[in-house]
Amino acid sequence: MDRRAFLVTGGSATIGAALTGGLSSLSSSQAASALQLRIQTARYRISEQITDDMVSLSPHAPPPVLRLKQGVPFRAEVTNTLKDATAMHWHGIRLPNKMDGVPYLTQWPIAQNETWLYSFTSADAGTYWYHPHCMTMNQMARGLTGVLIVEEREDPGFDSETVLNLRDFRIGKDGQFLKLYSARKAARGGTLGTVMTANWTQSPVYVHGSGSIVRLRLAATDTTRIYRLTIDGAEGRIIAADGHPIREPLAWPTEDAPLVLGPGQRLDVGVLMPSEDGKKVVISHRAGGRVRPLATLQSKGASLRRSLGDIPSLPKNDVPDVDLSRSEVIDLVFGWSPDGLKPNNGICGTLGYTFWSINRRPWPGDAVEGTGPLAELKLGRSYILRLRNESPNTHPIHLHGLVFRPLRSNNRVIPSNWTDTVVLHRNEVMDVGVVADNPGDWAFHCHVIEHQKTGLAGFIRVT
Ligand code: C2O
Ligand code: CU
Ligand code: CU
Repeated sequence: MDRRAFLVTGGSATIGAALTGGLSSLSSSQAASALQLRIQTARYRISEQITDDMVSLSPHAPPPVLRLKQGVPFRAEVTNTLKDATAMHWHGIRLPNKMDGVPYLTQWPIAQNETWLYSFTSADAGTYWYHPHCMTMNQMARGLTGVLIVEEREDPGFDSETVLNLRDFRIGKDGQFLKLYSARKAARGGTLGTVMTANWTQSPVYVHGSGSIVRLRLAATDTTRIYRLTIDGAEGRIIAADGHPIREPLAWPTEDAPLVLGPGQRLDVGVLMPSEDGKKVVISHRAGGRVRPLATLQSKGASLRRSLGDIPSLPKNDVPDVDLSRSEVIDLVFGWSPDGLKPNNGICGTLGYTFWSINRRPWPGDAVEGTGPLAELKLGRSYILRLRNESPNTHPIHLHGLVFRPLRSNNRVIPSNWTDTVVLHRNEVMDVGVVADNPGDWAFHCHVIEHQKTGLAGFIRVT
């Protein structure tokens, strides 16, 4: 690791600004130029009152949608203007380990007024996201979670698109942040926000042509909430999950069987808009008998007269399949921590406690070197990770740098789709298959940030 931050040299950025479903978007339109991303404080009106002390990439707007092209090099110069250190992670992208943005594991933290250059080429198309991996409770809960899209080589042919960055904010009546977490909740399911938003807006409405086919990209970037989603008022098809086109179908959500989307997960949905003008398609979160509308798609104009059969299928990403006949099983147990009330340095900045662990080992702190990985995988080999949740809480378990697919669960039927984050229910044991095809030290943790930062984190080494 090089302590010195990369210097900004040459190549001015060519940034194409456009509007994507209400969020501004930045596309890297020229391979040689780097996007300039400045992590900074922001103010924004989420509720009645403007919220101060938010964190974003511009002073008065949510983090933009970043648009990359499949197979085309991407470069971003990330400058930290905050007092606290930071580091940027590109969630779900299979990239070189050095570019993964995990302090102490793959790089040094980016201190105030330092700039770090990230550059990678994504072989996979799909819906991903970005967030800091340092001071995560503070910076993510205050806003720094954005959607990253890798566009397919060939345009798959949707009529239009809406991106929904789903997340809560813990703000009070005066619009200001409340305490971001409580220890009591960190030791259980996590602390929920008070205001639910899509694209930093409460119940936004996006207009699309009547009878058209919309690509709806949903990203759950909240620090805690497990979404249970329905899409009412339209028919459609789930076309991709966690970036990758589906291998096995996911049922269209119903009130009784909503789509579960945990922190870190994404869905791409082909929605057939109603053929009449002025009809509403409502995306809602359902919990405990309550329906919370998150966003609305509204039809407009004369019908384009498309049908369900016109929903494009996406070309597969080139993911190596698991060789189940010769895969070693690796046990990974998620549960309580032997360290109890000792502060855990959950990758820059402690929440003050160590409630959680993987295989009874909480995240070892910032002196990662020398403490060793949870498991060592041989490059190119197939493995079965046996994920065992021995707690009564839900954990969205996330692995960096590799993709895996669920094979079986002890308590439900689970479609075997490629993913980087899987929701483990209470006491669930799930086998997932993975090919260790990307060398490096890959962070492995729960994406409920309070769990991650109080011990439920480790790393897996591929050599
Ligand atoms: Cu979404 Cu370790 O990250
Ligand atoms: Cu990640
Ligand atoms: Cu968890």
